[in-house]
Amino acid sequence: MASTDFSRVAEVEAVIICVPTPLNKNREPDISYIIETGKAIAPFIGKYEGRSMKDEGGKQNPEGTMPKLVVLESTTYPGTTDEDLRAVLEAGSGLKAGVDFHLAFSPEREDPGNPQSVVKSIPKVIGGFTPACLERTKELYGKAIQTLVPVSSCRAAEATKLLENIFRSVNIALVNELKLVYGAMGIDVWEVINAAKTKPFGFMPFYPGPGLGGHCIPIDPFYLTWKAREYGQITRFIELAGEVNTAMPLYVINRTAEALNSHRKAVNGSRVLVIGLAYKPNVDDDRESPSYHLLDLLKERGATAAYYVRMSR
Ligand SMILES: NC(=O)c1ccc[n+]([C@@H]2O[C@H](COP(=O)([O-])OP(=O)(O)OC[C@H]3O[C@@H](n4cnc5c(N)ncnc54)[C@H](O)[C@@H]3O)[C@@H](O)[C@H]2O)c1
Repeated sequence: MASTDFSRVAEVEAVIICVPTPLNKNREPDISYIIETGKAIAPFIGKYEGRSMKDEGGKQNPEGTMPKLVVLESTTYPGTTDEDLRAVLEAGSGLKAGVDFHLAFSPEREDPGNPQSVVKSIPKVIGGFTPACLERTKELYGKAIQTLVPVSSCRAAEATKLLENIFRSVNIALVNELKLVYGAMGIDVWEVINAAKTKPFGFMPFYPGPGLGGHCIPIDPFYLTWKAREYGQITRFIELAGEVNTAMPLYVINRTAEALNSHRKAVNGSRVLVIGLAYKPNVDDDRESPSYHLLDLLKERGATAAYYVRMSR
């Protein structure tokens, strides 16, 4: 049953945290949702008032009871689970991770807008704070997920998710750049990608677009950039991909201006319709969507810009 009462954490054996991980106004990781959630559940992670303890009315850390499991699923930088979240859970409970409660990280993997994607058949990466934490996490997810992919630590699991999303960001930037280069050469990048993807090995198609959108790909890579600085490391690919991808809305506007110009028209005074606001087809998620940049850029240039979205039932 859904509840906003955190004291009910005492009634469960496992807690999964999957709260937002945005960037703040300086484009630095904002893990405050994780920290606040950690603080809210900490007083209850040593308490057991669930079915197994019902007769005893709930006790603090009772002997013989399996320690509670806390799993973080939010996408974040390596170290969030075993440093930041662990610190607030231990401080707020007076307990020790790996001893009095179990702690793990397992990234959420979803394919929004794909009706063929079923959660139970998406392999789930899991990393525990200790080997015992990992075993508990396997038991939990093994009930619902067909294939589990255990890794050696929470950090390895956090880094796995970032690799997946950085891989997308960098490859999208590559095809965005190729769109510009091939476009200047009079070559259709879509034709090229469709031909290249017939290669049965060593190639995976990515497609150009007006920029990156959604809660993950435009944001997550910069979680690593920020953390890498602590280790004196520079994430050049991430920065470059960010640069290429964020320049795409302007490229689209310039192409629009050229198209209008070829009809002896200016952007200023034109009426332009932007079709679709979400960051990809068949989803209702408009977070970070480049469509908003397009609308702003059109308005800045004097166009009357409107948008069209198909409302889902
Ligand atoms: N949406 C996706 O497809 C997707 C895929 C993979 C990973 N992720 C990651 O999962 C995490 C959550 O993303 P999302 O898109 O589900 O976010 P969301 O904005 O939909 O929020 C998730 C839930 O957190 C709740 N929440 C917000 N603030 C809270 C707080 N302070 N305390 C308790 N609950 C709170 C919200 O009510 C909501 O139910 C992010 O780290 C994201 O990067 C999302």
